[in-house]
Amino acid sequence: MTKPSGHQIFYESKKLRHWFKTRLLSLTSPLFAAIRYAICLKTTQQELHTSNYTVKLMAEDNDLKNLPGVGPATANKLKAAGYTTSESLSVTPPKDISEKTGIGFNTVLNIVTAAREQRGVDFITAEDLWKKRQDMQRCSTGSSNLNTLMGGGIETQAMTELIGEYGVGKTQICLSLCVRVQLPEEEGGLNGKVVYIDTEGTFIPERVFQIAESLGIDPHETLSNIFLARAYNSSHQELLTEHLLKFCPENNVKLVVVDSMIGHFRGEFVGREHLAERQQKLNSQLHKLLRLTEAYNISVVITNQVQANPTAFFGDPNKPAGGNVMAHASTHRVYLRKGGKGTRLATVIDSPYLPEEKTRFKITEKGVEDAEEN
Ligand code: GTP
Ligand code: MG
Repeated sequence: MTKPSGHQIFYESKKLRHWFKTRLLSLTSPLFAAIRYAICLKTTQQELHTSNYTVKLMAEDNDLKNLPGVGPATANKLKAAGYTTSESLSVTPPKDISEKTGIGFNTVLNIVTAAREQRGVDFITAEDLWKKRQDMQRCSTGSSNLNTLMGGGIETQAMTELIGEYGVGKTQICLSLCVRVQLPEEEGGLNGKVVYIDTEGTFIPERVFQIAESLGIDPHETLSNIFLARAYNSSHQELLTEHLLKFCPENNVKLVVVDSMIGHFRGEFVGREHLAERQQKLNSQLHKLLRLTEAYNISVVITNQVQANPTAFFGDPNKPAGGNVMAHASTHRVYLRKGGKGTRLATVIDSPYLPEEKTRFKITEKGVEDAEEN
């Protein structure tokens, strides 16, 4: 008998794999489903552990049933209310969960405690953090003035907040980033895809098409690399945010835009009596986004509106909306204003390491570019 060639062995093993796949795995017996689930879970855990950091918090969280006291019925109630991971349980106030699911408060309290214990407390050394930050990348906005202001571009592992009044250009910067993030690194991009959570219906594909075309990039491919989600209210926005932890790493997403972050919250929670609840929910969403940036080396850009500041006697009569919660969650805050001759002024107003400087840019068919005078 002749010895089989490498090609034959490969072919035979391929046939065997195919047979295995079609005959065995197609059986949907609980045993096979359990084995497949275990394999999937193991792979996901291994992938997530590569980052050795916050990721551990979110890893094996997918199975609510692992939590003591959570049977199939309770798990279904939690999932139906949007709590699909133990991570989401551990960051949500028990009172909210109890109200949404109809599960008794004390039971919820035990579940939440178990979820928090499962997450554990992860200490890392400062050296580990330093190493992790060496992976940080920056995406060009299109304006080198704006890039310089931002320390070289919009950073990964950070949440950048664009603040300003209507028509100042917040969405235009976001749309420009949607195109540029897809470019290779040597051209100022991150070679990745985009998730765009649009809360106001202002994402205009024609504008993205125009920006891509004027940069000489295939506009159709550019558009197909942008995953758009229209958030209809703050809890829908919350649900979409929760999906990002799974969606982004699976789809090579490098930029997440939430435009606008605060719009629904301002519209839904009106009056002082609802302020605490609003801030709590907003805070929870912002921290989920922050964890996403760190876990997958992603850049998150959010937009924020301004509100009248009755205590201002001189200078700008406006201040960023969202109060301390927004101020503390964002890594870099950039305040945008309209300048002369159709230009725009950008100022860093809060950042852990960027100086509080200002620069000028303009909105053009290419997205955003430098304005001549600076
Ligand atoms: P709100 O969402 O209303 O809070 O405003 P925003 O800050 O998101 O404003 P946006 O980014 O939508 O900017 C709107 C401005 O961009 C308009 O006033 C236009 O001046 C400018 N703009 C939009 N498209 C173009 C374009 O194709 N070319 C140029 N030159 N300017 C544009
Ligand atoms: Mg806008």
